[in-house]
Amino acid sequence: MTICELQEKVLQLKKEKDFCILAHAYQGQEILEVADYTGDSYGLSVQASRDAHRNVLMCGVRFMAETCKVLSPDKRVLLANPLAGCPMAEQLDLETLEALKEKYPGYAAVAYINTTSELKTACDVCVTSSSAVKICRALPADKILFIPDQQLGRYVAAQVPEKQFAFYSGGCPRHVVVRAHDVERARAAHPEALLLVHPECRPEVVSQADYVGSTTGIMDFAMKSERDSFLIGTENSIVEHLQFACPDKAFYPLSVNLSCMNMKVTTLMDVYRALSGRGGEEIALPQPVLDGAGRCIRRMIELGG
Ligand code: 13P
Ligand code: SF4
Repeated sequence: MTICELQEKVLQLKKEKDFCILAHAYQGQEILEVADYTGDSYGLSVQASRDAHRNVLMCGVRFMAETCKVLSPDKRVLLANPLAGCPMAEQLDLETLEALKEKYPGYAAVAYINTTSELKTACDVCVTSSSAVKICRALPADKILFIPDQQLGRYVAAQVPEKQFAFYSGGCPRHVVVRAHDVERARAAHPEALLLVHPECRPEVVSQADYVGSTTGIMDFAMKSERDSFLIGTENSIVEHLQFACPDKAFYPLSVNLSCMNMKVTTLMDVYRALSGRGGEEIALPQPVLDGAGRCIRRMIELGG
């Protein structure tokens, strides 16, 4: 079977079975082409809460499918490949969070969306890379415990100097591999290119960027820019999507190591198998988790706009 034939089958099944397909921007091009909505974590969360289909298939990682279930508890939500977890979302458990909250009394607990739903039950609000600065500014608290991604946390803290921040020592194992010398090498090879990076990168990389933003932010910036050459400092699938979107512009990976195997474990065949009832995993969460994580995620949408 060819990719096109399989895509045809997926589109047909999706319609027959009343499925909405949500695909994070780190999925392969062949998956994005069959999705109803693609984008960053914030965009997918908002779409998940508005969509009218009875069933949702998440092509992304587990916390994204859980977010979708929390926002639409009456829908059937499937994760296309059950092995697709985000390692950062597993870095902090409830017990460690409780200990951190004791260490930092009076701090609002702000969770990056890349956390489990269980962890979100003990947090005041969650944020994504595209909404973190706005939400931390808007939050009626002057002390913020930002978990688990210290790189994103420090980036946000620099934009919100009027507040006091404390951090956990977590981070994205993919983005932190990029170092200042990768920027030097890439700039030397492509001196004309603008550097666009995700705030999950280290400060030594973020501080050299021409633009810092979420996956959707990076794509929008590159598509709208009058410049025609870009170094992409986030997962390398964004390079490919931009090459398809803007064939006359040039896109280069900041590092070949910027590849997320967790995101890449999902294949188009997984999508087909999940829709045909022979694969995927249905997300089920206990009621207290639905309630607690729901409060945290809905507050993000209220404050994030
Ligand atoms: P975005 O919200 O920018 O899509 O980021 C999600 C993610 O997992 C980045 O590694
Ligand atoms: Fe998680 Fe990093 Fe992969 Fe994003 S890129 S899903 S934060 S491991």
